[in-house]
Amino acid sequence: MIIRLQVRFPSCTHMCRSVLGQDTEPHLASGGRLAPVFGSGAAISLSFLDFNMRHFLFLYFYKHRKDNNNIFVDDLMEGGERRPIPNPCRTFLEAFERYPEIMENIDRVGFVRPTPIQSQAWPVLLSGEDLIAIAQTGTGKTLAYLLPGFIHMDGQPVPRADWGGPGMLVLTPTRELALQIETECKKYSYKGYKSICIYGGGDRRGQINLVKSGVDIVIATPGRLNDLQMNELINLFSITYLVLDEADRMLDMGFEPQIMKILLDIRPDRQTVMTSATWPSGVRRLAKSYLKNPMMVYVGTLDLAAVDTVQQTITIVQEEEKKAFVMDFIRNMLPQDKAIIFVGKKIKADDLSSDLCLQGLAVQSLHGDREQRDREEALKDFKESRVRILVATDLASRGLDVHDITHVFNYDFPRNIEEYVHRVGRTGRAGRSGAAITLVTREDWRMAPELIPILERSGQEVPHELVLMAERYEKHKREKLMYGSGGGGGGYGGRRDGGRGGRRDQAQSWKF
Ligand SMILES: Nc1ncnc2c1ncn2[C@@H]1O[C@H](COP(=O)(O)OP(=O)(O)OP(=O)(O)O)[C@@H](O)[C@H]1O
Ligand SMILES: [Mg+2]
Repeated sequence: MIIRLQVRFPSCTHMCRSVLGQDTEPHLASGGRLAPVFGSGAAISLSFLDFNMRHFLFLYFYKHRKDNNNIFVDDLMEGGERRPIPNPCRTFLEAFERYPEIMENIDRVGFVRPTPIQSQAWPVLLSGEDLIAIAQTGTGKTLAYLLPGFIHMDGQPVPRADWGGPGMLVLTPTRELALQIETECKKYSYKGYKSICIYGGGDRRGQINLVKSGVDIVIATPGRLNDLQMNELINLFSITYLVLDEADRMLDMGFEPQIMKILLDIRPDRQTVMTSATWPSGVRRLAKSYLKNPMMVYVGTLDLAAVDTVQQTITIVQEEEKKAFVMDFIRNMLPQDKAIIFVGKKIKADDLSSDLCLQGLAVQSLHGDREQRDREEALKDFKESRVRILVATDLASRGLDVHDITHVFNYDFPRNIEEYVHRVGRTGRAGRSGAAITLVTREDWRMAPELIPILERSGQEVPHELVLMAERYEKHKREKLMYGSGGGGGGYGGRRDGGRGGRRDQAQSWKF
């Protein structure tokens, strides 16, 4: 039986050639997009392939996805036939054989193999499709979107000199994350593309001058970019590759109006990528309107899951006991340990860090009320180990990659459960191990039912008191439903936000 089959597989050039002879040259297909670029992952047309071979390839790559990497791919195309799922790449060479400059950079940093999300995101992105990529914290999502972005820009039919503006835009929720991504961009520099970080608190005039001098890649927080856009100081029409890193946080924290305005200026046939380690249901519907028939790639589960290399410990305490607990934790830190202590409010960050300083400890603090210069210095001190303790608000919960953090200490429980997962993920990055210690008070009881499955999913111990807390909260919720609200939290701590099941707080209540 002879069937016509399209296989998109970065690595299978060799394999197909050996199976089918030399006439399987990659071809570019526009797919309705502005010149999507197929790497060596070109859509290879395997015409007249025997059914058995097709079946073999399907099973082979299905097994590779499932057994080795637990990768899942959903085609979110609305209506029409499902598309063939691009096969994952097992090595860097399979994805980037035709891009020696990228291979050189990868060799230089010494990575051994693609992470699961990279192995599936690269073929999808190189085939020109939109992508939602969800994978645990610290699993290389940044390179998953950056490298195909470089290739995408290089593959544009319009010569670079005629772009009239940048080709790639990465939006992130925080300035620190934007700066970090820009550093990554520079580290893996490609074809001399120039990148710039546009963020509030940074030198506005300097940023404008740099934009005017010509940049290829913009990494920005939505607010400042909006400001430059509204004042016609940046042209966004030239952008063909758009990334929303930590997409759920940006959509959930009230950046949506700014993002909408930014998107008005970006051509609709762009390629769009959204990434995060968490994908709450309230954001899923919203996200779809930003993408065009995306593929969704997730590793493991779409349920909330903390990175599995981190040991999570939950301690139930009284509010007034917290300081003693944190002091005890610090006393027991080893010289090589490095810890980030998360608190709920900016004032608490100041208060706790000055307390620790008064005790003679070298500490830095990071929160939204600090001057930008001080914020950057605090993070630098921490990264370069001049201090080994950083007291921070949720400003630091997303994306920051400080490889040698050994401990996350949640002094206050975060305001929503997704941030718990991201905070925990500041340690245990790229396969390293780490520990997270979380203090939970009775005021946090509404979080207990959501926290327990996260602990169970990664095989962590669930304290009996937490189970009781969750039961009490569920009972309270049922009673509230039956007898009306009565307001507040029923005498056992109230909900501090609008709750789950939809979009939560607006921007102003998200100030960290
Ligand atoms: N293939 C790889 N092999 C080993 N390390 C890698 C690989 N790809 C990326 N890394 C490293 O892993 C670390 C984490 O990467 P990255 O910050 O992109 O993670 P992330 O998935 O975006 O995490 P988060 O959800 O916290 O934002 C970085 O230091 C990066 O250099
Ligand atoms: Mg990231």
